[in-house]
Amino acid sequence: MTIIDNTIRFVKQQLENAEGGHDWFHIERVYKNALLIAQEETCDLTVVKLAALLHDIADSKFHDGDENIGPKTARNFLESQNVSEEIIQHVIAIIENISFKGGNFEKEFHSKELEIVQDADRLDALGAIGIARAFNYGGFKNRPLYNPNIQPKLGMSKEEYKKSEAPTLNHFYEKLLLLKEKMNTETGKKLAEQRHAYMQGFLSQFYAEWDGEK
Ligand code: ADP
Ligand code: NI
Repeated sequence: MTIIDNTIRFVKQQLENAEGGHDWFHIERVYKNALLIAQEETCDLTVVKLAALLHDIADSKFHDGDENIGPKTARNFLESQNVSEEIIQHVIAIIENISFKGGNFEKEFHSKELEIVQDADRLDALGAIGIARAFNYGGFKNRPLYNPNIQPKLGMSKEEYKKSEAPTLNHFYEKLLLLKEKMNTETGKKLAEQRHAYMQGFLSQFYAEWDGEK
């Protein structure tokens, strides 16, 4: 058993009852995308793999907003596997800095490995899977699909973004359609373009159907 195998086992078990958009299969897709992007980059693959596997281990969205529980859970696990302190610190820094949360604040940590895992996570918020995840999350939170009277809010602070109870369609304008311009890597950018175009097509069709056949 390698550390990666043990990590996969641990993550599957931790996310057993997770919401459909943040379950083991989300982690598996992010892991695969991260490995694909990493092929074109110079990076520490162990850090990329561990961070991709552990990035949503205890998301604050599902733990009363507690932003420490994810890093803490990851650290405890990595220490139990005798992973070096240097790698642990890097993986934890990625987990702490990967999330979007409105996107309107300066990140204090940068690394190639963060860029890779962040792009991989963002790709899973786009395209057909991105659409499915957004509506699943909206349903999980009992949000309306769309309400033409509630406008999307751009430039939200981290706190406002986390508290938002807006319809799911607004999330496309508040986050999903902004991601294409935020991609870090060349591979990430290319894949994001395709998925972005697919979502735009979805939105056009959605509004046409909303307005009724004429
Ligand atoms: P965050 O946006 O909090 O940084 P994540 O990267 O964990 O978080 O978000 C993952 C996915 O969860 C989003 O891409 C989307 O599919 C879903 N999601 C998060 N917030 C919302 C929301 N307000 N409405 C719809 N889906 C959401
Ligand atoms: Ni994620």
